[in-house]
Amino acid sequence: MEERKGFGTNFGFLMAAVGSAVGLGNIWGFPNKMGASGGFTFLIIYLILAVLCGFIVMLGELAIGRKTGKGAVEAYHVLSKKFKWMGWMGILSAFFILFFYCALGGYCIKYVVLNVGDLFGAGFGSNAMAAVADANGTSVGAEVFGAFLGNPTEAIIYGLIFVAITMIIVIGGIGGGIEKVCSVGMPALFVMLLICIIRACTLDGAVNGLKYMFVPGWAVANGVIDKAPDFLTVLATAGGQMFFSLSLGMGAMITYGSYLQKKENLQKNAILIIVMDTLVALMAGLCVIPGRFALDPDGTLGGPKLLFITMQNVFSRMGGLGPIFGILFYLLVVFAAVSSSISLLEVIVAHFVDKARDAGKGDKRKTYTLIAAACVGLGCILVCADALGSTGFAPGNLLGMTGELPTWAADWLDFWDMLSEGIMMPLGALLMSLMIGWEVGPEMVKEECEQSGHAMGSYGFFKICVKFITPLCMILILYGQIKEFFF
Ligand code: PHE
Repeated sequence: MEERKGFGTNFGFLMAAVGSAVGLGNIWGFPNKMGASGGFTFLIIYLILAVLCGFIVMLGELAIGRKTGKGAVEAYHVLSKKFKWMGWMGILSAFFILFFYCALGGYCIKYVVLNVGDLFGAGFGSNAMAAVADANGTSVGAEVFGAFLGNPTEAIIYGLIFVAITMIIVIGGIGGGIEKVCSVGMPALFVMLLICIIRACTLDGAVNGLKYMFVPGWAVANGVIDKAPDFLTVLATAGGQMFFSLSLGMGAMITYGSYLQKKENLQKNAILIIVMDTLVALMAGLCVIPGRFALDPDGTLGGPKLLFITMQNVFSRMGGLGPIFGILFYLLVVFAAVSSSISLLEVIVAHFVDKARDAGKGDKRKTYTLIAAACVGLGCILVCADALGSTGFAPGNLLGMTGELPTWAADWLDFWDMLSEGIMMPLGALLMSLMIGWEVGPEMVKEECEQSGHAMGSYGFFKICVKFITPLCMILILYGQIKEFFF
């Protein structure tokens, strides 16, 4: 039978797993949520949750993957009677996330091109919009983004380019595609981020950005937000952000774990992934938030508008070197998005490839990657054509809802996000901890961790958390998320 090929080195695995974790969530989610939810106070809650839930679920998923040596569907099938079907929920989540992730990845490629245009004074740069923005009393960023959303064909083309890039890397396989790209891409991303941070933090007025992010209560005291969110909201915001940001609860870490060699230390890897992801989230904050406070003080602080309006304004107003920093920044975001989307596609592809191999049909990676990418492409076209809800076929319209639509129903991006990030991922994490804690038993994780000959120092802690604390926190987080989406 064909051999199942995995990661060549632990470094390669680590870069791929960190690559999966570091994505759009770090750049437009974390810094803004931290600022709006109490600065350092939020950070501390985030870190506590990362230890009590993130670490437990991360280690659990890596162990499930490596023990079974299978993708998410088969892994749950082998281990559990009650939770057999969970892998399928992971595959579904992967599709839903990819639908909007690829659309947004495409937007980022467009913005690289836009800044290249500015660098050479070409007509396809954002400068061409300066006069329009002046006439309309808006900003260059707002005009550029408006024009882009008004041209869905262009968005679809960029989205599909992003899908194609993701597909080509996944066709290359784990060692030949994903590991190679991430081993170079992630260190490069880190260096690019450092350069952007230095530029952003030395702008006049940048210090307000640092205060917004770190000083508890600053955002309310200075009128950036109206009032501080209550504790349950903060908890749910921190928890939801953490799960999405660490790629947990949908099988990505199970899948990557299944390709990791038995000699590698799971516990250490789990800690490193979490630390690096949080570090990059903070670093992304040090890059975007001070830039916004210095050069676009009225700009949106989170979500697509932060990335595609506020940040473009920052680069447009930066003077001569603006386009160079623009190219560097948007390229960095493309790297972050690609290294996440390949892990999402791999969740889907791994299952079908494993099945074909086990049935003696040989290596079907190319075929299945093409089929999966085609399905993702369709979802991506839908999200691009919808252009953030501006064309009248939003989910709410189709469902016949009247009046002002709630966020999740107002556009397709938020709809897929609500299903995956809002519900399925926290639910997946909750059920996974229940499965390990009460059905399979936490000893499974201990045994798997100790395969490498390293003692699992955290076992006592892991056991209490996975049985009681993690599920309890997850219920609170899930409740908070549902409340935020629907009530
Ligand atoms: N962690 C990624 C981010 O922060 C998103 C992601 C979720 C990637 C789930 C893979 C799996 O943007």
